[in-house]
Amino acid sequence: AVSGFDSINKKLLRPIDCCPLSKNVPESDFKFPDESSQTRIRYPLHKLPLGYLDKYMDAIQKMRDLPDSDPRSFNNQAKVHCAYCNGSYTQNNKELQIHNSWLFFPFHRWYLYFYERILGDLIGDQTFGLPYWNWDNPEGMTIPHFFVEKQCNNYKVENGENPLYDVYRDKSHIRQMMRNAFDATSFFGGKYVAGDEPIPRGDNVVGSVEAGCHTAVHRWVGNPDPNGNKEDMGNFYSAGYDPLFYVHHSNVDRMWTLWKQMGGKEPTDTDWEDASYVFYDEKQNPLRVYNKQSVDLSKLKYEYHSSATPWTDRPP
Ligand code: C2O
Repeated sequence: AVSGFDSINKKLLRPIDCCPLSKNVPESDFKFPDESSQTRIRYPLHKLPLGYLDKYMDAIQKMRDLPDSDPRSFNNQAKVHCAYCNGSYTQNNKELQIHNSWLFFPFHRWYLYFYERILGDLIGDQTFGLPYWNWDNPEGMTIPHFFVEKQCNNYKVENGENPLYDVYRDKSHIRQMMRNAFDATSFFGGKYVAGDEPIPRGDNVVGSVEAGCHTAVHRWVGNPDPNGNKEDMGNFYSAGYDPLFYVHHSNVDRMWTLWKQMGGKEPTDTDWEDASYVFYDEKQNPLRVYNKQSVDLSKLKYEYHSSATPWTDRPP
């Protein structure tokens, strides 16, 4: 079996049976949103516009209230991560693992894309954008109190106690972006195609952001209890149960767009372009999406509200 950031060898706190619900609806191909639809803005968590926090909490609460017979439910959304990372799927009789390779960025982009649309739909706001945890900027590094307090308005945090402040003293991880700004393999991760064995964590082809700040934040947020498996954030199978997962990955996804602005380019190999996944959308329709459809945010109709990137002035 493939291990996550850390192996699973202790008692499980979350289900490991993560196969998606079957709704007996045939999958269809994803279509880009209408040209005329409004672009969703993803704001940094520490600078949400007035009223945005309420909207966000409300959406998460509504997702938690959905029954698990609904593929949009909080648990089913969490299981999507587990399914693609802990052996629910195979390809050519081998376990599918979307981490540690060039599938990492596009898979997570699509995952968040549908998660965001589901949240927006649940609160009747088609412009809702998933906030991002701006851990690459000193002002946005700390976990906002509304994630840490056990009880906060109508929104209970699953895993509130995180020894995160050490993270913010270690500046080494915020500069990963500068190490290899223009080389697709070192940014995206190595080639991984049908028939390949999953690439193990720690392999030197793992992409820079994935191996560095991405995994570091997961570990820091996960529960370090030696009797556990670093749930929720510190393990693939459980990471999707922490709402911080999605705002963390929103920033990881933002790194891709920043890297592109610096001149980075996605792989052009057709094995990369034609790799695909299936996600349920906000209407519970299973849609097939391709890596090649993930590269242009203006077509996907969301964008990142800008935030300073002090690390660009301090190359390693
Ligand atoms: Cu799929 Cu942050 O891991």
